[in-house]
Amino acid sequence: MRRVSVSSLRPGMKVAKPVYDSFGFLLLNTGLELKREYIENLKKLEVPALFIVDNLIPDVDIDDVILDETRKKANQLIRNIMTDLEKQPVKSIPKLLFADNKINIVLNDIITQLLNNSNLVINLADIRTADNYTFSHSVNVAVMSITTGIALGLSKSKLQKIGIGSLLHDLGKVKIPLHILNKNGSLSVEEFEEIKRHPRYGYDMARMQGHMDISSALIIYQHHERMNGTGYPEGLTSEQIHLFSRISAIADVYDALVSDRPYRAAFPPHEAFIFLQSRGEEFDQSILQKFFKNIAAYPVGTILSLSNEMIGVVVHNTAGFPTRPKVRILCSEVELEPLEPMEIDLMDQLNIVVKKVYNENEIPENIVKIM
Ligand SMILES: [Fe+2]
Repeated sequence: MRRVSVSSLRPGMKVAKPVYDSFGFLLLNTGLELKREYIENLKKLEVPALFIVDNLIPDVDIDDVILDETRKKANQLIRNIMTDLEKQPVKSIPKLLFADNKINIVLNDIITQLLNNSNLVINLADIRTADNYTFSHSVNVAVMSITTGIALGLSKSKLQKIGIGSLLHDLGKVKIPLHILNKNGSLSVEEFEEIKRHPRYGYDMARMQGHMDISSALIIYQHHERMNGTGYPEGLTSEQIHLFSRISAIADVYDALVSDRPYRAAFPPHEAFIFLQSRGEEFDQSILQKFFKNIAAYPVGTILSLSNEMIGVVVHNTAGFPTRPKVRILCSEVELEPLEPMEIDLMDQLNIVVKKVYNENEIPENIVKIM
């Protein structure tokens, strides 16, 4: 199974993982063979990529760290909360936010699944349609923030608090006019000032709810603050920013970077790592190091070359060692002729490093042929 962007899909390819819209409706099911008209429809729906059955690693799955069903439930919950908040008068906010305790139940599922995962490595495992960007982004920020909390050794009750604040971190966006929120192109100074109010709007709504822990509400208020004081809304620095907010700030930026957006293509994870490291003063370095430990720099299916001049495809990552994947070798970089089947595990071969990652349109022709 491999993640293939929609622009590289060809008729005849087979869907390896189902795709849902933000309402939870099935758009494409596993096993479906693509036709030209399906691919055109996917482009219209702004689906950025699909998981495809491929001949390079037909035996390898790309596992999500939480169950599909849980991810779907969490997405729908956030969608319901945010769309209801847009329509309802302010006084019904308390009820809406914690109706039936649903948010705690879904978070408990997420935390339990993450804690029970013996090899907690986050691959790029979800596909977002344009209409569910905000919701699935919220779920991913929660998953990555909780994962980082686990790496920091935080208690389950703290993980629950991080989860609530992260799931709802962009709650305040429901009060930003849509023409500003969805604007293609650069924002005017006034429009950006309005965007910068979303942490305050969200925090006020969260506090009205009455039962949300202050540390969760602070994630909503502080997720755009930066360690060096360049963030907003307060321009706080280092320790003035709550630990949970420092964690979610990293997850928020990372997840935005690795997502396809209407105005730019997604960063591959290893480039998002470099980007975050290059903005060192903005993020808490010790948290950033922990954050990277559970994210695959080279997700399963990535085609790359190694320092021993071999080209291969990533088949496994080990938690704690994000840049040492196991690679199934395909050919030599010099000859481009197929080699005997073998795998090199960079966990064992410490003298070998990843040299180059191939993006989809750079993959050598002889490898494309066997895909
Ligand atoms: Fe935000």
